[in-house]
Amino acid sequence: MPLSIVILAAGQGTRMKSARPKVLHSLAGKPLLQHVVDSSRALEPEQIIVVVGHGADQVQQSMQGQELYFVSQHEQLGTGHAVQQCLDHINPGNAVLVLFGDVPLIRAETMASMIQRSREDAVCILSFEADNPFGYGRIIRKQNSVQAIVEQKDATSEQQAINECFSGLMLIRGDKLQQLVNALDNDNAQQEYYLTDVVDIAVTNGDTVAAVICEDPAEVIGVNNQRQLAEVEALYRARQVDALMEHGVKIYDPARIDVRGVIEAGKDVEIDINCIFEGTVTLGNNVRIGANCVIRNTSIADGSVILPMTSIDEAVIGRNVSIGPFARIRPGTGLADEVKIGNFVETKKSNIGLGSKVSHLSYIGDTEMGSEVNIGAGTITCNYDGANKSRTIIEDGVFIGSDTQLVAPVRVERNATIGAGSTITKTAPADKLTISRAKQVTIGTWSKPEKKEK
Ligand code: UD1
Ligand code: MG
Repeated sequence: MPLSIVILAAGQGTRMKSARPKVLHSLAGKPLLQHVVDSSRALEPEQIIVVVGHGADQVQQSMQGQELYFVSQHEQLGTGHAVQQCLDHINPGNAVLVLFGDVPLIRAETMASMIQRSREDAVCILSFEADNPFGYGRIIRKQNSVQAIVEQKDATSEQQAINECFSGLMLIRGDKLQQLVNALDNDNAQQEYYLTDVVDIAVTNGDTVAAVICEDPAEVIGVNNQRQLAEVEALYRARQVDALMEHGVKIYDPARIDVRGVIEAGKDVEIDINCIFEGTVTLGNNVRIGANCVIRNTSIADGSVILPMTSIDEAVIGRNVSIGPFARIRPGTGLADEVKIGNFVETKKSNIGLGSKVSHLSYIGDTEMGSEVNIGAGTITCNYDGANKSRTIIEDGVFIGSDTQLVAPVRVERNATIGAGSTITKTAPADKLTISRAKQVTIGTWSKPEKKEK
C-alpha cells in the first residue's frame, strides 16, 4: 500500500531552554529533523509531509530543496492537532506513518519492519522498554493487548510504574485515518490534542491495535532537553565507531573520537585519540590519523599519514602523503601523491604536485604548484594586496630558498632556483638562479654602540 510519512516538527521544545526551534538542534553536525527525513527516505514513501509551526521559516529554510511538503500548525495544540492539520494534504487511502522530529536515531529498518508486521491493523505503534520511562507515554495493556497510551502528566502512580513506552512512531491505516484523528479531544492534563489517544479511540471502536516492540531502546530516545541531546550524540558516535571497528578500522580509544557525519574507510586504517570527523570523510587503505586531528569533508587516499594536531577542511589528499604535525589544510587544497606538508604550514585553494615538499612554516595560498618542488622554510605566497587575491604559479622541479616571499601574481618557471630571503615580484626564468636580496657586505669601520653616561 502506498505510504505517506508525516513528521511532526512544530513544537517549540521549551525544555531545551534555547531560542532555536528544537528540531534544528544539531546532532552529529546536522539538524535532528534532517536525521528523521534522511531515514524516512529509505522507505520510498509517496510523500513526506513536515508539520512546521514554531520557527517555521527557519525550519523550512534549513530543509530547502528536499522534496518535502510543509504544512503549518499555527498554534501548537498537541501532536494530534498537528496530524489533523495534514488530513487535507495526505494522498487519500495512503497508510500514514507518523514520526516525531525529535526522535532522530530511528533506523529505516525498524520502520520497515513495523510496516511489514502490521498490514491489517487500524493502528500500529512502536513501543520500547525504558530504563527510565519518565516523560514518555505509557502503554496500557489488558491481557497483553494494547488498550491505550497514557501520558506522563495524566498517569496514575500505578501507570507511572509501567516501563513500556510509546516511541512516537505510529502507523495508521488509510481508511481509518480521518475518523480516528478527527475524534481526538483535549480533555487531559495539558489540554492538548494528543495523537496517542488514537489508540484508545480505535480500541473503543473495535478496531485492532498492534504494538511492535523496538529491540534497541536507544533508537527511540526522544530529545526534549540538552541532557537527552548529549545522550543521542554519544549513541550516534558509538554506532559510527562500532561500525568502523566492525569494518576493521583500528580505533585507539572508542570513547575518544567524534564522528559528526560519515566516515568511509578502507582496510587497515588507524585512528589515534581525540580526532573529530565532520561531514563526509573518505580514508583509503592504510591511512593513519594521529592524535588530535580535525578532518572535515575530505578524502585521503591510500597510505597517507596525518600527524598529530592537524586540521584539514574540504581537501583532496593523494596517496602516500604526509601532513603535519601542526598543519592547517584549508578548503580547496589538492595534494597529489607523495606530497609532504610539514609543521606550521598552511595551505588554501592550492594544488601541490607529485612529490613536492613544503616542510616548515609556510603559507601556500591560491597557488598552482608542479611536481618535485621543494619549498624552503618560511616561504610565503603573498596572494592578497589588500583588495584582490592573485595566483602564484610554481612549475615542476623548482627549488625555493628559505624565507622567500612570492608576490602574486607571479610565476617561477621549471627547475628555477630562488635564493633564500628573496622577494620575487617578476617571473623567475627556468633553470636559472634568481635572487633579490642585497649582496652580503661586512662594514669594517663599524663598532658596537656604547651606553652613554648620564
Ligand atoms: C511524545 C508523546 C509520548 C511519547 C514521546 C516519545 C504525545 C502526546 N506524547 O511526548 O507519548 O512517549 O513523544 O518521544 O504524542 N509537535 C508538533 N506540534 C505540537 C506538539 C508537538 O509538531 O503541537 C512535535 C514536536 O515538535 C516534536 C513531537 O511533535 O517533534 C513530539 O512532541 P513533544 O512535545 O516532544 O512530545 P513528548 O512530550 O516528547
Ligand atoms: Mg519529545
